[in-house]
Amino acid sequence: MAFIEVKDVFKEYAQDAVIKTEALKEINLTVAKKDFICIAGPSGSGKTTLLQLVGALDKPTSGKIFYGGEDITVLSSGRLADFRLRKIGFVFQAYNLINTLTALENTEYVMLLQGVNNKERREKAEGILKKVGLGDFLHRRVNRLSGGQQQRVAVCRAIAAEAEVILADEPTANLDSQTAAGLIELMRQLNQEKGTTFIFSTHDKLVMDKADKVFQLKDGRIV
Ligand SMILES: Nc1ncnc2c1ncn2[C@@H]1O[C@H](COP(=O)(O)OP(=O)(O)OP(=O)(O)O)[C@@H](O)[C@H]1O
Ligand SMILES: [Mg+2]
Repeated sequence: MAFIEVKDVFKEYAQDAVIKTEALKEINLTVAKKDFICIAGPSGSGKTTLLQLVGALDKPTSGKIFYGGEDITVLSSGRLADFRLRKIGFVFQAYNLINTLTALENTEYVMLLQGVNNKERREKAEGILKKVGLGDFLHRRVNRLSGGQQQRVAVCRAIAAEAEVILADEPTANLDSQTAAGLIELMRQLNQEKGTTFIFSTHDKLVMDKADKVFQLKDGRIV
């Protein structure tokens, strides 16, 4: 049984009663545990939409999305929130860090929601942040960190929460090529050490080349 299976998924956004955008058409793909997968494609091709559906942040217009054989498109919003909290880490621009909290507090945040106790939370978050070279920035508010440092904190938060799957929407956008390479390397390291499944989108050819498998989107279809 596939770890994640996207089956015959269509997504239509209604602008109003007349104008509709077909953002995704007939998407079929499967993802195995520990995959390191890239969703590539030009602007407007449907990358963010697909990641939002796989992350259960939105529902397809038709089609199904299975995790270990369970169809998540039929879950209630309460069950979905719980599912996201237990399973999925997001490195999304729109679901990013909390600016008024420090790097450490942001990294602890999902664990707090999960009910992990204070001591364990603190130790785990500190350990992970130090490991990715953010040991000197634990107590700095994230709006005073660079873009690359913030992306690293977002990856740390997902890792600390023991997400099985990390969805990252253009995680290297706005980073210089060296910082981008470092972030992908960090993701790969966690993929190999912890078996975390990664699905990330990008425009960047250099980033695509680091993936085990690339799904290329064009006008809402996989080509
Ligand atoms: N909330 C929305 N309402 C209406 N249309 C939307 C909405 N979100 C996305 N779209 C449309 O759906 C299509 C796919 O958008 P999407 O954001 O998934 O593309 P993308 O590949 O992530 O693009 P980019 O590389 O620019 O981030 C586009 O035509 C976009 O205009
Ligand atoms: Mg996008």
